Amino acid sequence: MSSIIVKLFSVIFVLMIFPKWSESVNVYSLETRYIEVPIDHFSATATSKTFNLRYLINSKNYVKGGPIFIYTGGEREITIAAQNTGFLFEISPIFNALIIFVEHRYYGTSLPFGNASFTITENLRYLTTTQVLADFAFLIQELKKNFFPNFSQADTKTEPIIAFGGYYAGMLAAWLRMKYPYSVRAALTSSAPLFYFPGLTSCEGYYQKVTQIFERYGQEKCVKTIKLGWDIIENLAKSKIGMDYISSTWKLCSKLKTAEDVQILIDWLSNIFIELSMANYPYPSEYYNPVPAFPVMVFCDKLNTAYFNDTKGFIQSFANALQIYTNYTGRITCNNIYSKEEDLNEVAWKYQTCTELIMPKCSTAQDMFITNNWVYEQFALDCYKKFGVKPKPNFVFLAYGVNKLKYYTNMLFSSSTIDPASWGVVDLNKADKTDKSLVTYQIMDAPHLMEFRGTNPSDNDYILQARKFYISILKKWLK
Ligand SMILES: *[C@@H]1O[C@H](CO)[C@@H](O)[C@H](O)[C@H]1NC(C)=O
Ligand SMILES: *[C@@H]1O[C@H](CO)[C@@H](O)[C@H](O)[C@H]1NC(C)=O
Ligand SMILES: *[C@@H]1O[C@H](CO)[C@@H](O)[C@H](O)[C@H]1NC(C)=O
Ligand SMILES: *[C@@H]1O[C@H](CO)[C@@H](O)[C@H](O)[C@H]1NC(C)=O
Repeated sequence: MSSIIVKLFSVIFVLMIFPKWSESVNVYSLETRYIEVPIDHFSATATSKTFNLRYLINSKNYVKGGPIFIYTGGEREITIAAQNTGFLFEISPIFNALIIFVEHRYYGTSLPFGNASFTITENLRYLTTTQVLADFAFLIQELKKNFFPNFSQADTKTEPIIAFGGYYAGMLAAWLRMKYPYSVRAALTSSAPLFYFPGLTSCEGYYQKVTQIFERYGQEKCVKTIKLGWDIIENLAKSKIGMDYISSTWKLCSKLKTAEDVQILIDWLSNIFIELSMANYPYPSEYYNPVPAFPVMVFCDKLNTAYFNDTKGFIQSFANALQIYTNYTGRITCNNIYSKEEDLNEVAWKYQTCTELIMPKCSTAQDMFITNNWVYEQFALDCYKKFGVKPKPNFVFLAYGVNKLKYYTNMLFSSSTIDPASWGVVDLNKADKTDKSLVTYQIMDAPHLMEFRGTNPSDNDYILQARKFYISILKKWLK
């Protein structure tokens, strides 16, 4: 690595990412680097400031002249994507590829205004997809200078660089290809809900998919218990005694006191069901929290001991089941239901979904969540109260065209039949006549982004086929 001139930063340390729990012996070693990027790419004022954007780099299998695989970070800390995308490390020897994971501004350590990035709402105004894509293109330009010896801005050739991403990161990989087509040759996306915008995709599918996973892996009783459980919890939580009972039985870090606390508890629970369904891998994992193999099945086995005629026993069964998700390591002393509110990455995502990424989720009688219509006016009011912003539901249509894909090339839009995050992925039947190099691919029965993970003996044929297909399309793009 020492031969590479990185004018960027000298603060380099090695981050070893061990795929915990997995049987794989691979150790993905990544160096952490930083690149100085403008806070505002679109202004030339003399006072313009910069900040350090974090990226991770692995050159173990890189051979000079080989391609760069760049994972365009999304709504979580970039180390998490690196930890859960073993596929890139495993295929890098085939291609002699360099691997980069770049962090999204305002997430992880890539904070434009340091610790004031979130304390002053005004400081959030550079949290836009337009700025993010410019960050990625800016980094790629630097990488080209460093890794392609005779790179010149005046050249007409395009370097072999491919963007990768899952969910929102996949949306960004595709948008990068659309907005900066000279920058990356192609985009390989999985569960990227590029069509999940008002008028194009309805709001109820996400929760329905979560419910289907619980039906399938946890039996009908589990779904019924959760569905009827909301009333039991809400009724019990109407009294102080009830709130105290839930607080102590579920070992909450702070006692429930107000109706607002109860609402936060309900959101916390809903989120646990979503994350259990997405992390329902056939082997132990820790995509969100450490969980056993098939966590939905294990959770439901415990919950299925609950009876509705016995409120206290019901709350107790729930407490036991929740441990599968909240306390699988046995090391958690109490449950903090406010953790999402306190997590700055969550705040950043909330801001994004309040401004440009309006992707409504609603629940109906067809799912196991509390029925919740999505009403634009209420949503907009909440966003205003929280951030002083007004949602821009048309922005993505203006900036990216959403389903107007006719003039774009070289993108793969992969999805899974059971992943809730696949709700709203690209459907070429809903797009205008597109170029043949835009391809959709559907994986049967795969939990969230499972094919992006490292090889595991429990991988089924669908996963193996998907990875083979990805390798073949990459070969085509890199020819
Ligand atoms: C924020 O960062 C500044 C400068 O690095 C430091 O002086 C200050 O104590 C920090 N504030 C908080 C609340 O961490
Ligand atoms: C780069 O340019 C140098 C000098 O012109 C030349 O010798 C070399 O072959 C070129 N390398 C590549 C990879 O094109
Ligand atoms: C609750 O229902 C179950 C199953 O129907 C029954 O076995 C149990 O005795 C009931 N418990 C109470 C407290 O009524
Ligand atoms: C987590 O598990 C340990 C070991 O079983 C237990 O002592 C602890 O109370 C549990 N914590 C919570 C929050 O349930």
